[in-house]
Amino acid sequence: KARKPIVIANWKLNGGLDLICTSVASFIGKHFDAQIAICPPYLYMRDMMTFLQFSELQIGSQNVSRYESGAYTGETSAQMLKQAGCSLCLIGHSERRAMFNENNEGCQIKVRTALNSGLLPVLCVGENQTEREANITEEVLYKQLSEGLANIELNGRDLCVAYEPVWAIGTGLAATPSMAQEVHQFIRAELTKIFDAESAARVRILYGGSVNKTNTRDLLAQQDIDGLLVGGASLDPGHFLAICEQA
Ligand code: G3H
Repeated sequence: KARKPIVIANWKLNGGLDLICTSVASFIGKHFDAQIAICPPYLYMRDMMTFLQFSELQIGSQNVSRYESGAYTGETSAQMLKQAGCSLCLIGHSERRAMFNENNEGCQIKVRTALNSGLLPVLCVGENQTEREANITEEVLYKQLSEGLANIELNGRDLCVAYEPVWAIGTGLAATPSMAQEVHQFIRAELTKIFDAESAARVRILYGGSVNKTNTRDLLAQQDIDGLLVGGASLDPGHFLAICEQA
């Protein structure tokens, strides 16, 4: 593939020191064709990094503050994450949109902050079940992309977009590869309008939602599916390793 595949584990609010040890141990000395990252809860990032010199794993963040510094209790800035050794950050995951009131405008600020700090932003988009049934998936994605990436200039810097249909998250009902490909193609066409054809061709578009070791290969075989964002299956190190080895 022209674009290097990327597989990201999102542990969400799960995991502990045991999982860190077993996860990192499974990855020690292994080589992958894909870029692999784990997004653990903030508190565990530094513990994981202690082991990273023996593996190709990168660490990502599940969120990032829109602010750089100041009186913002509970926040962690992009610059702090970068300095701590983080490579990337998820932005606007559907759980943050649904439960923590994140909106497209906030995502846009976060994408900008991440880019300026040298973190790879992974902007998450996706329709929910009601929106899909109402046939407005493209409208929802258009709004999330055009507002979430408004006035962003890449200037050669990398960006990822993760397509996560909300109805597929944690349900065991993954989108079929062709269904996902259709949406990814739409996303790339929108990215071409927002940026330009050359930049859009460089953006890696990940699929997320009930990814497992059985559907990995078929999903990644699609032309515009450049990576995977894995939730539940990433909490089992052996299972996550099996996904990464196929990427
Ligand atoms: O960020 C990951 C997604 O929310 C997917 O979660 O693999 O458990 O469906 P899942």
